[in-house]
Amino acid sequence: MDLKSSIQALTNALQSFPKTVSETARFEIISKAKDLIFALQSPEQHVLQVSANTMELVAIRTVMRMGVLEVLPKEKDEALELQVLAEKTGVQESLFLRLLVGTRFIQQDSAGKYWHSHVSKGSADGGNAEAWFKGVVYDVVMDGFFLYPTAYLDTHPLEEPSDPSVTPVTCAWNKEGDNSWQVLARDHPNKMLNFQRGMAMLVDAAPVTGVYDFSQLVKIEVEKERMVLVDVGGGSGQCVEAILKAHPDIPAERCMVQDLGHTLEHARHSETLPRGLQLLEHDFWTPQPIVHAKAYFMRWIIHDYVDSLSVKILKNTAAVMARDSVLLIHEAIVPERLSETTMIAGIMDMFVLNCAGKERTKKGFEVLLEQAGLVVRKYWQREGTAATMIEAVLA
Ligand SMILES: C[S@@+](CC[C@H](N)C(=O)[O-])C[C@H]1O[C@@H](n2cnc3c(N)ncnc32)[C@H](O)[C@@H]1O
Repeated sequence: MDLKSSIQALTNALQSFPKTVSETARFEIISKAKDLIFALQSPEQHVLQVSANTMELVAIRTVMRMGVLEVLPKEKDEALELQVLAEKTGVQESLFLRLLVGTRFIQQDSAGKYWHSHVSKGSADGGNAEAWFKGVVYDVVMDGFFLYPTAYLDTHPLEEPSDPSVTPVTCAWNKEGDNSWQVLARDHPNKMLNFQRGMAMLVDAAPVTGVYDFSQLVKIEVEKERMVLVDVGGGSGQCVEAILKAHPDIPAERCMVQDLGHTLEHARHSETLPRGLQLLEHDFWTPQPIVHAKAYFMRWIIHDYVDSLSVKILKNTAAVMARDSVLLIHEAIVPERLSETTMIAGIMDMFVLNCAGKERTKKGFEVLLEQAGLVVRKYWQREGTAATMIEAVLA
């Protein structure tokens, strides 16, 4: 888009703001603003911006490690000088990363005093943004990701990684031949805990509720002994927790979270999971032990594997489904052309490359489901996001 049309498009998008403060409207404005910046940039300026983004990732990780975000004042009128921050953290002044002022992550006034931006504040409050940074981006993704185009591709074929034990991240951890999830759970329990917290952040960024009506699973009730919802590879129970909060009519004791033993351990010690929720150590490469549940649920599971392995997981579920059971797969569907609102599909696609996975188009899912004897009944999609609930039933 040329400069003139970019300015016009941004002006048009702004007309609806602040009257329309929907997520879609915000995304639209961000998208047009990015178009304008892109049109304004020379190739060199864009390359410098990409460099700054990359350095920002490293700089944020560093200030998090140095404890700077904990001592940084929250409000402008409490802003502190560099020297004071250095004394409070015991970090050498020259190590403070001014780049983060340039990227706006940290604020600095004309007198040189520093305080939090709304983003850095939100990345240091023990909440979702911090969990995403620490648990997903830093502890897992970055380790393998930056080595992918170099150390990994130097020694592996130019093909999508397909074996979960031979991936950029197992290569980075020097654990090739060992399944990346098992390495994470067994050798890095704290990283796994942080990872699950990061996954919980996605419950907000790509909500599992608000699209598919989980309450319908208990509307027509027949057999009381039947399990209502089985979350396969459910991590620490973050999804079921959100679902039961939104649908208190679903009895927690008829819902189950399944995952590997080490991971489930975190769920066992959770203080927030609903009482009565069942936890079962289960390896999804083996037959599903819970027969005829009303719904089997998988969020961000299938995207971790190539087609042949994904079909195995799906077949294990299809084998125990009743005619009225549903399989709910929550994933980011890759559209024909990525936009600001569907960017999460692109981000996740790169992330899961790290562990030999990939995001898929609708067609990609339909092919998989067909091989497992399943068929899509409906795509439940929230406007303005790629995150989709695929409702599948026996073919
Ligand atoms: C990307 S995470 C998704 C977690 C959760 N479903 C969510 O969306 O927040 C993948 C999950 O699969 C689990 N997992 C990996 N291999 C597994 C296996 N063989 N059997 C059961 N769970 C497994 C991991 O421990 C992890 O919790």
